[in-house]
Order: sequence, then structure tokens, then C-alpha cells
Amino acid sequence: MCGIVGAIAQRPVTEILLEGLRRLEYRGYDSAGVAVLSAENAIQRTRALGKVAALSEKLAAEPIIGMTGIAHTRWATHGEPAERNAHPHMSKDRVAIVHNGIIENHEALRQELIAEGFVFESETDTEVIAHLIEHNRAKGLGLEDAVRATVDHLGGAYALAVVSNDEPDTLIVARHGSPLVLGLGLGENFIGSDVQALLPVTSRFIYLENGDFALVKRDSITIFDANNEQVEREVKESTAGMCSASLGEYRHFMHKEIFEQPQSVQLTLEGRLGNDEFIPCIIGDNVQETLARVEEIQIIACGTSYHAGLIAKYWLEEMTDLPCNVEVASEYRYRRTPKRNKVLFLTLSQSGETADTLAALDKVQTEKSMLATMTICNVAESSLIRESDFSLMTIAGPEIGVASTKAFTTQLVALQIFIGLLLQAKGNHPEKVKYLVNHLKQLPLLLEQVLDKDAAIETMSEAFIEKHNALFLGRGAQYPVAMEGALKLKEISYIHAEAYPAGELKHGPLALVDNEMPIIAVAPNTPLLEKLKSNLEEVRSRGGVLYIFADEEVSIREDEHIHTITIPKVPEILAPIVYTIPLQLLSYYTAVLKGTDVDKPRNLAKSVTVE
Ligand code: M6R
Repeated sequence: MCGIVGAIAQRPVTEILLEGLRRLEYRGYDSAGVAVLSAENAIQRTRALGKVAALSEKLAAEPIIGMTGIAHTRWATHGEPAERNAHPHMSKDRVAIVHNGIIENHEALRQELIAEGFVFESETDTEVIAHLIEHNRAKGLGLEDAVRATVDHLGGAYALAVVSNDEPDTLIVARHGSPLVLGLGLGENFIGSDVQALLPVTSRFIYLENGDFALVKRDSITIFDANNEQVEREVKESTAGMCSASLGEYRHFMHKEIFEQPQSVQLTLEGRLGNDEFIPCIIGDNVQETLARVEEIQIIACGTSYHAGLIAKYWLEEMTDLPCNVEVASEYRYRRTPKRNKVLFLTLSQSGETADTLAALDKVQTEKSMLATMTICNVAESSLIRESDFSLMTIAGPEIGVASTKAFTTQLVALQIFIGLLLQAKGNHPEKVKYLVNHLKQLPLLLEQVLDKDAAIETMSEAFIEKHNALFLGRGAQYPVAMEGALKLKEISYIHAEAYPAGELKHGPLALVDNEMPIIAVAPNTPLLEKLKSNLEEVRSRGGVLYIFADEEVSIREDEHIHTITIPKVPEILAPIVYTIPLQLLSYYTAVLKGTDVDKPRNLAKSVTVE
């Protein structure tokens, strides 16, 4: 988490830095700050608690001007959100640094530096880096060597950028674990946590690799690898384009993104469907041969992407007969896992930068324990896409709201495409491939139809604003849909919510049910519907108030405590995708009525680049 941007130019950089921070705010928005070298080479620093807008206001009131600078937007890990903990951190007015990641040995370093007479102003792990650089300089090292000596002592993950009044014409950067890109201009160069930050100023980028250390000047960039060898890294032209970050007629990005789903699903399908088959080359060369050898799938993801994986397990095992395991990346990465050379390792991620997911991929690549690695991801230039053997893009477009919506439904579509390609590669079930292709073609229209329920769901949400808890129920592939519904409600309305497979209620959670507990159920017309209805009766007879999203052709008993919104009939294979939409809308409207910050909920960030 946290976003870094930096510039060394022949023009004032403060506005470039601020625009970069606005574009990185999805990474964290607890506080923000900039440090810019003045014409006299003094470090001028401004920091503000809260979002980048607060920093902008401060800078408008008291501008700082200079042609070299660094900036940061923070997601707090060590030390509460407060101005004193905001980056850049400085040492003795001579060094300023910004940092993304976590320095695991910061406590020991802090004690050593205090013993040397350094005074700490913050509770952050980052401040030790600034003081350690200054400490090394005081021993007589030049800035470059002082930074090198410092990073040699850092444990954990970091991307960092350093400016100093000692060498005003150089930005020094280092990457170990957390991503960092260099943006190339004419007579000016830039640094950023990702390309989005720098798209207004350049489209040419160098992606630093783990262990890289670079000296960035106005007219040159020198990169050293982990072995301290000078290296050339490939310059890539970005295809990301300017991100369409305008709200248009919508009040929140989340609302806009919910309504974009028919279109983003359509775009994810485009060019991937033939008449009765899927088009294989979209994943990469020779993918057919690899998929033909796959005997098991291991899915790894976090949060909403993990829920997409859980749904895919139902589909994969039903359609392909191949076993599928799904696990959250933060657990998998630290577990001892057996070598399985017929297993495809599949990561799911909107951002492609989630630290735990990347670490899990790194683990299986280092151990060479899987047949191949593949990712389903929404960001073309992301680390996951670059580091996986194969990739299948979701074409959701930029997702700005922290709560993931269109990224999730497009992941589910991509997973169905993947299943179709797997079946094709195995060559034994053309009828199943045809079934998938034909149903996917209906999906955008079905999503339009379910979005027509918007007003009814808005009215339903009024019942939730005073609630402190909620239970979500589903059966079969609708159980992870319920999990995703509960996560959305927690995330943006701050109502505690849990999901259960409905058959599990009587094994404990039924004790929670009374007339204060709203119970939300997803009830498409599947072979498990009658079982679900019996579970709902168990809830109703204990005083629970039910909010049910049910197939229009299904009869659900009505009374004043059973509130039903009907959903157009959908084929079973599409039900998890279609029934996700009403749960997204329910959370959205509940959050709006509660007055929370829907697009930037408290304590969260869009891209989780620390573990
Ligand atoms: O970018 P990723 O899909 O890897 O992110 C994973 C989670 O951090 C993410 O899905 C998170 O749970 C969302 N905020 C949920 O809405």
C-alpha cells in the first residue's frame, strides 16, 4: 500500500507530484505529503492528514516551488494516521525519503539510531531509513553509498525514493518487494508506484526488478541489479492510456462501476468467443499443450478475488472433473506445500499488485512446484501479468471504488472462458464448451435486466441503516456469492456481516437469529432451491426477518417479515454472476443512507501492496 511519486524536471514539479498522488490515492488516503528542493537546495516539506485534497489546499495557501521532488500518499501500518507520521520523512533537514512497504527490523534499527543521538518524530518504520542514510553520510559516505549501505540493513519489503540537498540533481530509488516504475521524459524523468501515477507526463516506462537500485537524473537513468551490476532494463510503451476517472452522472464511482458491468462483461467476452468455441491464443502461445496436461487447479487470491475463486471451484469440478483447491494468498505463501507437477497455479487479482498474491506466485516459482502459472487480472502492466507464464485479462477498465464490483463479475466471466479453454484442450466435451459459449452470450442482457431492480433495492436498503449485524445465506455456488455480499456490506457500510452456507445454520449460527437480525438470501432456481427454502423457514420460525433475492418463477411464502425482490430467470451457470449485482446495490444504498465515504471506506485502500 501507500503510493510514491517523484519527479526531476526542468519545470516546477509540485503540480506533477500532486496529480500523481491523486491517481495513486486508491493505494491509501490516511495522509499525504511532498518534499521539493528549493532553488537554494533547501528541502521544503508539506504534509497533511487525510486525503490528497487536504494537501492540495495547504499547498495552494503556501506554495512550494522546485524542480526536484518526491511525494507520498499513506495507508498507515506503523503509527496512527497523523501529520507527524505522514511521509516524506526527513533527517536533519538533509535527507527526505518516501517509502512503500514494511521494514521488519525497524525496532532494532530505531534503538541503534537513538543510541547514536538521532531523535524520532514519528512512530513509523520509515523514519529509521531517513536517519540511517544520514548516519551513513555522517560517517563520510557520499549519498549514493549511504543509501546503498542503508538498504543493505533493511529487512522486509520496500520501494523507496530519496532526495537530498547534498545532490540536488539526483533522485535515488530502490526496490525490494514493493513495485516501482521509472517514467522517461525529455530532459526530465519520473518515478511512481505504478504507471497510472505518471500517465499525464509520459507513456514510456521501465519496471524496476526486485533488488534494483537506480540513480535518476534529468537526462539519464542508471540502474544496478541485486548484485550491484549495472544493467539495462527494457523500456516499455504503456497502453494504459488516460484512465477515465470521471463520475459522469453518478454520485460515486462504485455506483458507476456497478452499472458498467454489462459493458465490462461484454468487453471481456469480445474476441474470446467463436461460434461454438473459445479462442485459445488469448492466453498465450502454446497454452493448449499446457492445459491438456493439467490435472488439478490451485487458485490463489485475496478478498473479493478469493470469492471469485471459490465460485470457480464449483464450476470447475462440475464441468471438468478436475480437482480445484482455493486458498487465500496470505496463508498459502507461508505454508509448506507439496510439489505437484500436474497442477496449474492460477492467481486472480484486480490490481495484479497484491503483495500476498505476488508472494504466493514467487513461492511456487522459486520452488518450481507447479506445472505452470497463470493469472486472471485487470491491469495489463501489472506485476502478476509480467511474472506469470500465462495471463487472461479481464477488460473491466479502471476500477476506482475501493469496493470491487465490476472486477469481480469480469473475473467470473474470465474463469468461465478459462474453463471452456481447459475443456477444449482436453478435447473430450465439445457439448459443454458449446453450453458455456451460448450462455455467456446472454449474460450482458441479463445483467441489464437485473440492474432494473435498482429502485426496489434502494427502498429495501432503508431497513438496514440502523442494523449492526447481518447474515447472508446461499447454497452451492451461491454460498461464495453470499460471502461477497457480506464483504461488500462490511466494507462500505461498516455493518458487521457474515455469510453461511444455509445448510450450516442449524450447526450454530441459528442462535444469533432474532427479529433484530436481517437475513439476506440468494435464491436462484437451482437444484438446491428447495433445500434453501427449508433453511429459510427455520430462520423465519425463529423470528428472523428475511430479505430474499429470488428467481421470478419461484414461489416464496410471503408475510410481513419476508421481503422478496424477484430476479429474472437465469441459467444455473450464470446465477452467481447475476445474483451478485443486487447484493452490490444493497450494500451501496445502505452505505449512502448511512453517509459513509463509499468510494474510500475507512481503513482500506484499493491496492494492498503490503502483506
Ligand atoms: O487487486 P486484488 O484483486 O488482488 O485485491 C484483492 C483484495 O484486496 C480486494 O478484492 C479487496 O478485498 C476489495 N476491496 C474488496 O472489495
